[in-house]
Amino acid sequence: MEKRLVREALEARKRAYAPYSHYFVGAALLAGSGRIYRGGNIENASYGAANCAERTAFFKAVSEGEGEFVAIAIAGGMEGKEPREYAWPCGICRQVMLEFAKADFKIFAVKSEKDYQCHLLGEIMPCGFEGSSII
Ligand code: THU
Repeated sequence: MEKRLVREALEARKRAYAPYSHYFVGAALLAGSGRIYRGGNIENASYGAANCAERTAFFKAVSEGEGEFVAIAIAGGMEGKEPREYAWPCGICRQVMLEFAKADFKIFAVKSEKDYQCHLLGEIMPCGFEGSSII
């Protein structure tokens, strides 16, 4: 499973839209149904309107009716180059993950097909603010 997800994240990078930062991010999200949703970062001339690859993948999946999530793989690097560093998700994406995934959700940060690391959502987003507080 994880090898496929890693490959798909690297593929997803190719469809990122990042003409401003030239930093291309791809994500591959495995839903409980077994389907994989790809996402890329999508930037905008009004910089603040950019959307990260992880959120693109989550919003695609949730809008298709998915409600359970198993793992996500993320790969980021400069346009036309292989990733130099592991691309861990930004704070806003971690918050979105917390909304839809559980503490044992796996996050793979990918440099290449052979070089990637895994952490659980519960590890990288401890003490998060969750909907249960306001419902
Ligand atoms: N980016 C992502 O797609 N995911 C992250 O977790 C961090 C940042 C994107 C946003 C922007 O298009 C570019 O990377 C540079 O910040």
